[in-house]
Amino acid sequence: MLFEQVASGGCQSYLIGCGDTCAAALIDPEISQIDRYLALAARHGLRIHYVIDTHTHADHFSATQQIGERLRVPIAMHQASPAPFVDMRVGDGECLVLGRLRIQVHHTPGHTLDSMCLAIEDRVFTGDTLLIGATGRTDLPSGDPEALHDSLFNKLLRLDPALKVSPAHEYKGRASTTLEQEIATNPRLQNRERAQFVEMMRNLNLSMPTHITEALRTNMTGGKTVAQLLADAAAIVPFMSLPNLKALTEARAADLVVLDVRERDAYESGHVPGARLLPRGQLELRVNEELPDPTRRIVAVCEFGRISTLAAATLRQLGFRHVVALDGGMKAWRDAGYPFVAGREP
Ligand SMILES: [Fe+2]
Repeated sequence: MLFEQVASGGCQSYLIGCGDTCAAALIDPEISQIDRYLALAARHGLRIHYVIDTHTHADHFSATQQIGERLRVPIAMHQASPAPFVDMRVGDGECLVLGRLRIQVHHTPGHTLDSMCLAIEDRVFTGDTLLIGATGRTDLPSGDPEALHDSLFNKLLRLDPALKVSPAHEYKGRASTTLEQEIATNPRLQNRERAQFVEMMRNLNLSMPTHITEALRTNMTGGKTVAQLLADAAAIVPFMSLPNLKALTEARAADLVVLDVRERDAYESGHVPGARLLPRGQLELRVNEELPDPTRRIVAVCEFGRISTLAAATLRQLGFRHVVALDGGMKAWRDAGYPFVAGREP
């Protein structure tokens, strides 16, 4: 079995492949590593057949949907997954064929209802059911400490103890462990008594993961992250630098419309000389009367350079071919000591 582990922060994802047939699968891919996964598969001469999430992640942004769409391959998750974009819902005891290899599905609810462990050859991918020296938490949506106790002691830990363990998280850089080692040393597994295990899990008092709301929203619905939305807009918009805009305003370039898309109070507290005001929230409503000439050269300006990117992308979709966004925003403009004027629109 070909095996590559990709770490992104504490999140671990895996590319596994059949050396005989070049069929591969990705397990728990994370959104910032998409190019790396595809490059690794190419380097090994592998073709990805499935992208798999071991469970609904609350702490990282899953790349399964993007990779699935890009490669036109199925996204596999457990039947209990709430995500509408899953193509292949798998259940306990089933397996996924990967060339000459078989990925054996073990449903292990507890960390989440849709958690599963995937055994293949000499290794088990444990998701967040079992971590190195720990277990997944059970206090996030659909978590259940009683179910985790069952999943661990009546299922996962009864598999071959020699199996290597590849978890979805590892923060201390430890590469791998085995079930046998975890059974012997993992502090959470030392007391097998159900009530005490549940009591311990209920009293961990962990802080909430960062981005939990956005991660659950996007991973459960297939919606975009805010960063993706901005990246998609930035991919279809050219930018103008701050010094370039300064030079053009000083030269009083007659053909250039500086379009300030902030709210009126922000505009009136200081804007680029000659800028016009058209708040982002009113853009589509007022665009026809405010900007009758779609061939005009327009630079969209906001406070931090993000909303102006969305505004410029919208204007491009509306047919304004010469719209750019200011690279940076009024904050960077003021910080650079560039001139601005306060007050109402002339
Ligand atoms: Fe998780």
